[in-house]
Amino acid sequence: MKILILNGPNLSRLDLREKNHYGDLSYSDLTKEITKKASEIGMEIEIKHSDSESELISWIHEAADKKQPVIINPAAFTHYSYAIRDAICMLKAPVIEVHLSNPLSREEFRHTSVVSGVVQGTISGFGVDSYSLALLAMQKLVK
Ligand code: DQA
Repeated sequence: MKILILNGPNLSRLDLREKNHYGDLSYSDLTKEITKKASEIGMEIEIKHSDSESELISWIHEAADKKQPVIINPAAFTHYSYAIRDAICMLKAPVIEVHLSNPLSREEFRHTSVVSGVVQGTISGFGVDSYSLALLAMQKLVK
């Protein structure tokens, strides 16, 4: 079963965002790095991005129906989307939350994650390596 990797709003424009938090990495660099890591460790993945809460929720519903494991960076939705949290609650397979930056070292509104309480674990602050670490953790969880 492929691991679904979901990326939320504004992540597709990473190289135009705050360099101190996201560096020079473009979204295409990010997906290439994740794909490379997945193939190195022999995992199949599919990566999707949306700026839309509704589209992300539809993909989470599909993953729940398929019992598919999910790695999700909900981006700004992390901090306030109870709808995404409720959708995550329906997932049957493991789910890991990731962030490129460390939200706890940033503005106060980023210190709350409404999804952290309903995922297996959260990996933040390591840039693209947050995703690589999540893949390694997921590999163990789905074994
Ligand atoms: C982010 C952190 C969020 O606070 C922010 O809104 C993002 C990206 C991260 O990956 O560091 O868009 O999820």
